[in-house]
Amino acid sequence: MEPRPASESSAQLTRWMGLLDANSAGNVHGGTVMKLCDEAAGLAAIKHSRRRVVTVGMDRMNFLYPIQIGELVTFSAMVNAVWCTSMEVGVRVEAEDPRIGETRHTNTAYLTMVALDADGKPTPVPPLLATDAAQERRRREAELRRSNRLAERAQIVAER
Ligand SMILES: CC(C)(COP(=O)(O)OP(=O)(O)OC[C@H]1O[C@@H](n2cnc3c(N)ncnc32)[C@H](O)[C@@H]1OP(=O)(O)O)[C@@H](O)C(=O)NCCC(=O)NCCS
Repeated sequence: MEPRPASESSAQLTRWMGLLDANSAGNVHGGTVMKLCDEAAGLAAIKHSRRRVVTVGMDRMNFLYPIQIGELVTFSAMVNAVWCTSMEVGVRVEAEDPRIGETRHTNTAYLTMVALDADGKPTPVPPLLATDAAQERRRREAELRRSNRLAERAQIVAER
């Protein structure tokens, strides 16, 4: 399979947060943010693999600042690394108060998506081309998250 540049997987979703997105404290519900991260990550993974994809795991979901109702929230996703059938997608979330125009970085998430064939079985995806220093750094960090996750799993199994 021909390698594909990471930049070609870039996907963005923008959503204006309303009352139905609120939690009981009046901010945007964390579950709303997680769902939209998952959707943006899914889009990036589909663009890279040109396949149907499923989420198999989330390695990190950081909530840095609360998001207010009435803010415009953008979810920017890109494939960070590719193995055989799985891909790590990074999502950066930024919220903007449209009355002021100031933007702040509110969340970062890393999700692993698996490409499926027509029978619903995991299927290989094209290799990823990191074409700049930031993409190369994200690829290295994705490898680190994967090896930490696998090492943690092996340790848990060994200690059972
Ligand atoms: C994703 C799924 C198809 C994988 O099936 P499986 O039988 O575990 O397949 P495999 O063991 O061949 O694993 C497939 C890939 O997933 C990766 N994977 C499996 N479990 C994982 C986990 N917990 N975290 C990260 N990657 C994982 C494997 O490393 C492998 O990657 P690779 O091919 O790049 O090496 C299956 O687990 C599934 O259907 N899960 C439910 C998905 C879902 O419903 N998501 C929510 C809605 S989208």
